[in-house]
Amino acid sequence: PALEKYVDPLPTPLTAIADTSVYPGADYYEITMRAGSWRFHRDLGPATVWGYWATDPHRPHRPIGMGYLGPTLEVTRDHPTVVKWRNRLPTTHLFQFVIDDIRSGNAQLTPTPPPPYKSEVPFPPDVNVWNVVHQHGGYTPPQSDGMPKQSYSPDGIHAESYSTLDPDRVEPNEAIYAYTNHDQSCLLWYHDHGMGMTSLNVYAGLAGLYTIRDPEDEQLGLPSGEFEVPLILQDKTFNPDGTLAYTMTLQEGEDTPVVNGKAYPFLAVEPRRYRFRILNASNERFWRLRFETPRDVLPQPTLPFWLIGTDGGLRTPLRMLNFLISPAERYDLIVDFSQLPMGTSVTLTNYHAPVHYPGMPGLGPEISEIMQFQVTKPLSGGGDKSTPPDKLDLPAVTPFEPTPQMRRREWVVYQHQLFGTMTFNAVPFYAPSQDFVTTSTGEVWEYINPNHDAHPMHVHLINFQVLNRQPIDAASYQEQYEKWINGGREPEDLPVLENYLTGPPIPPDPDEAVSLKDTFKSYPETVTRIVIPDFTPPTDPIASIPGSGTELPATYIHHCHLLEHEDDDLMRPWTIVQSAD
Ligand code: C2O
Repeated sequence: PALEKYVDPLPTPLTAIADTSVYPGADYYEITMRAGSWRFHRDLGPATVWGYWATDPHRPHRPIGMGYLGPTLEVTRDHPTVVKWRNRLPTTHLFQFVIDDIRSGNAQLTPTPPPPYKSEVPFPPDVNVWNVVHQHGGYTPPQSDGMPKQSYSPDGIHAESYSTLDPDRVEPNEAIYAYTNHDQSCLLWYHDHGMGMTSLNVYAGLAGLYTIRDPEDEQLGLPSGEFEVPLILQDKTFNPDGTLAYTMTLQEGEDTPVVNGKAYPFLAVEPRRYRFRILNASNERFWRLRFETPRDVLPQPTLPFWLIGTDGGLRTPLRMLNFLISPAERYDLIVDFSQLPMGTSVTLTNYHAPVHYPGMPGLGPEISEIMQFQVTKPLSGGGDKSTPPDKLDLPAVTPFEPTPQMRRREWVVYQHQLFGTMTFNAVPFYAPSQDFVTTSTGEVWEYINPNHDAHPMHVHLINFQVLNRQPIDAASYQEQYEKWINGGREPEDLPVLENYLTGPPIPPDPDEAVSLKDTFKSYPETVTRIVIPDFTPPTDPIASIPGSGTELPATYIHHCHLLEHEDDDLMRPWTIVQSAD
């Protein structure tokens, strides 16, 4: 039976409490990954889930969390954070059948091509659970970045690049990471990045919010406090008893939208402006969102809203009616309910964005309704004192202009013809870094996507801007690319992008133009170009933690944020080296 909609109130993740006494000059948190129990809907039984719990420094026996997802870290710009991430998960996976299937060597769920198209070692034998925490979008030294090869298991087994600060203070199943918070005010998030099993771990619940605040933002007049609400969008499949199913074959009607951990929740709102900070934490689903009003209430069927920020921070406000959000992207919105009569319900809906945008026929059902905002609360606090969005004076984003000195670098999304596995440039994740960037010059990265799916691409460490997109003759490009591979990868066989362009450059979408991004949509049969103006990593160590700064060379990664793709194998390292001059 279909779940009844809008009967569960929207939960809001709790905020973790910092301990300022452990590392002078930094906020310290202890956060534990563990299994717990969570009801995704009033009419669903409790499900075993995984989540993060923060230690309350004043009441150590009352950890802060809700079981599913994790507590929010609220931090101040440029004031460092230190986190001890403790792995107390079970040693058998919540989705052990997937692990067993991969390990059996005749994987039915994820067929595996041989090297050089696929990493040989997704994770070591006898270890079923393998985790590491990545602060997504942060300006973080590599030893604290939480990349897959830094994974560690609940039984204290370490992957090859496991690292921790202050090793005397950790058990083998823990790691201490430090974050500079040298970012604009923005919504980051933290999530599992376990080697080869990120998709399973995040689906089980391992994700949380990380909000960077700038004290100067208080002057801007943005809706705040209870009028600033995070919305973490995901989709789930449930077994009849309410437990989580992990299926690779989504059937019509099986997939359920979940916001902050609840299926089809509602939020009672006042007739005033709200700030919604939307994160798409789905494994693979893109959403095209709009705010629908009942037909008899407004002349137009949807409520207009204002985009005021993206992944990396605030931007010039943009009035919009809908937007497409891919996994890992964040959209910071102001929605005005003040003109709606008491009792009006506004429904957050999704349209024409099946699992894979723009969608392969038959691959996943449409979800049309997600949650509801019900204008049922009287206006409090003497009315809305926030600044109207068209009067907002937000800090301007500098356009990132490409310069002639910038090197062009191509990343081809290569799908293995027989097995379907994807890689960048037909090189598996496990092969050593071959891409060296310097601290002195920016680069233009060209993501050449000759397949029929859109991919959300994410680059660690840096913010970038989308420069443009250009359509390509995908079939011919793919054909020549196969020739290059089959002919022993001779440079003269490599397709020259310019020969495959079929139209003029298309400027970035209005919602991504002159915005700070860490994840963008690489559309099918298209090259998408991004400008990265600078690769200088954070160098200043946090005084109270030796080894917390960055030394060169420093290796980071970029990858597709469809979690099943990054596990399997659409991810590559890249390395920052000192420039010669
Ligand atoms: Cu949100 Cu490398 O990931």
